[in-house]
Amino acid sequence: MTTDIKIIKPDDWHVHFREDEMLKVVTKYSSRVNRRCIAMPNTSNLITSSDQAVSYKKLIESNSHSKNFEALIPCYLTESLNIDDFTYALQNNIFVGGKLYPTNATTNSQHGVNDIKKIYNIFEILEKENSILLIHGELNRNNIDIFDREKYFIDEELFQIRNTFKDLKIVLEHVSSEYGVDFVNSNNNIAGTITPHHMLLTKDDVFKDKQINPHHYCMPVVKNESDLLSLRRAACFENNKFFIGTDSAPHQAKDKIQHDSLKAGIFSSPCSLELYASIFEEENALENLEKFSSINGPKFYGLDINNDFLTLNKEEMIVPEYTEEGNIKVKNFFAGKKIDWKVS
Ligand code: NCD
Ligand code: ZN
Repeated sequence: MTTDIKIIKPDDWHVHFREDEMLKVVTKYSSRVNRRCIAMPNTSNLITSSDQAVSYKKLIESNSHSKNFEALIPCYLTESLNIDDFTYALQNNIFVGGKLYPTNATTNSQHGVNDIKKIYNIFEILEKENSILLIHGELNRNNIDIFDREKYFIDEELFQIRNTFKDLKIVLEHVSSEYGVDFVNSNNNIAGTITPHHMLLTKDDVFKDKQINPHHYCMPVVKNESDLLSLRRAACFENNKFFIGTDSAPHQAKDKIQHDSLKAGIFSSPCSLELYASIFEEENALENLEKFSSINGPKFYGLDINNDFLTLNKEEMIVPEYTEEGNIKVKNFFAGKKIDWKVS
């Protein structure tokens, strides 16, 4: 029986660090198991300039609990971006790429891109600089079913982006459907991040018996068993184009439901690596975990693979109900449940 696994220290290519006190909490957990994290730029003050990126990176790294932890910052793309500053920031590794949020797709995306054609000039720059386009791949229009937003985005936008900018490296973030997995697998220069929750939950875990579980509500919303199985296959076996992106996205428990609206986002940082390990074990694919956690990501981003290592022990861990520190109280994903792995 496997009792422990030693892997190259992972990177998490999709985390929401937020700001202030919340940032300290997220940084503590994320720097515990990762050497690098992509810090998503949909903060309440969107990260759209090189100056903001430099100070956000510094702020996160100065709160880190491990010495060589690194935060990588993508630019929040808008139709009114300062192109000179953006290009300068890509050339000087201040931005790791650009993140496309279609308008109203998710948290703080009201300033995202409405007409994606209008930022084709930005895609051209990313392609030329051999940088990365990170995409929240959902179209939110009032006639599109919430479960079909990823498919619509792929058909109406991504297909064309892929075919117009053939050398542009694209990451389809938090792939949530079999359709998304198939698109990534059948196209060049595109990779995908996969969250633990999309490999553990289906829509029944969110919407059941006329009740909504707000703590399982995220964007893209979790889908069917067939989608979950396809994501597991992609992560565990089709193992070159997919890598970790937890999309750990905390909201204060008290704010998760406000009036009639729900905040989308699942907080998994306290146990995400342990969850990935248990999924790979269930799929009899533990030998592939390291590729998914620590190799495919840097290869796609054109960065070095980490030199340090981390050990996961076969040891029981019960996930606490909440992460509570100071004024922060966030419901943990997998709260109260047992995981058979623990980072040593
Ligand atoms: C994220 C957040 O809250 O910032 N929410 C989510 O449901 N995943 C944004 C995102 O990545 O969509
Ligand atoms: Zn996210």
